[in-house]
Amino acid sequence: HRYVDNQGVPIVVKADGLAAGKGVVVATSLEQAHQAIEYMLTTNALGVKHNQAGACVVIEEFLAGEEASFMVMCHGDQVLPLATSQDHKRLLDHDLGPNTGGMGAYSPAPVVTPEIHSRVMREIIMPTIAGMKKDGIRYTGFLYAGLMIDAQGKPKTLEFNCRLGDPETQPILMRLKSDLLSLLLAATDDQAGALKDFPIQWDTRTALGVVMASQGYPLAPQSGEAITGLPPESADTMVFHAGTVTPQPGQGGKGEVLSAGGRVLCVTALGHTVKEAQKNAYEL
Ligand code: GLY
Repeated sequence: HRYVDNQGVPIVVKADGLAAGKGVVVATSLEQAHQAIEYMLTTNALGVKHNQAGACVVIEEFLAGEEASFMVMCHGDQVLPLATSQDHKRLLDHDLGPNTGGMGAYSPAPVVTPEIHSRVMREIIMPTIAGMKKDGIRYTGFLYAGLMIDAQGKPKTLEFNCRLGDPETQPILMRLKSDLLSLLLAATDDQAGALKDFPIQWDTRTALGVVMASQGYPLAPQSGEAITGLPPESADTMVFHAGTVTPQPGQGGKGEVLSAGGRVLCVTALGHTVKEAQKNAYEL
């Protein structure tokens, strides 16, 4: 608390442990920062799975800029960048709600210009791969760098994940024209260039996904609400299920779709511009 008072706001308070993407508070007032520390350390309202050391918080510098998600596939030294994307973090329209795991995303992220793309590969991704190698880690899989890109175009790393992002995955997969299984197989193939030179193809259009969340998300999401009106499949749209269940007759249900968790659906559509993709997603 004293440290936060000395630093002032804006400041970032993070739960040190798994919090399903909800453990970050970007505090713009001292009151908010102190409150976040209290509920992360004392009441554990987020249900954080604490690391072994027990309840800890990490307090970080507030970085201004635009966030982007930069994902690559790796197999040892071989690296294949995927399409860029950007997720939208805050609940409610006009950024009035708390930070979440992501309320929507689009791909590509125009903030990642070709120059910034090269810079991220050179200054962040390749040194990370080299660093892992030095530590004796030959990593195969998805590597996700969460970036903040400042007004001068300088990228800084906020986090790394060993997975694709949610909900960035949904628009990225909408744009992937290559066969996903062949791509995954290439990422386990030791032949030189199998992954690095994989002829990955993307739809040149923008894909945008809007998350439908349960009432009460992120703190106390409701479950078990019936979902109706799911649209039929189409080539340019897709409703991805995240927090749903369809209990069958033997399980006390009738095969209806029910919500089961915080982020329930990601309604995703392609369009020629971000605006058009957004319009198509909201229409869907
Ligand atoms: N959308 C942020 C993440 O998946 O980490």
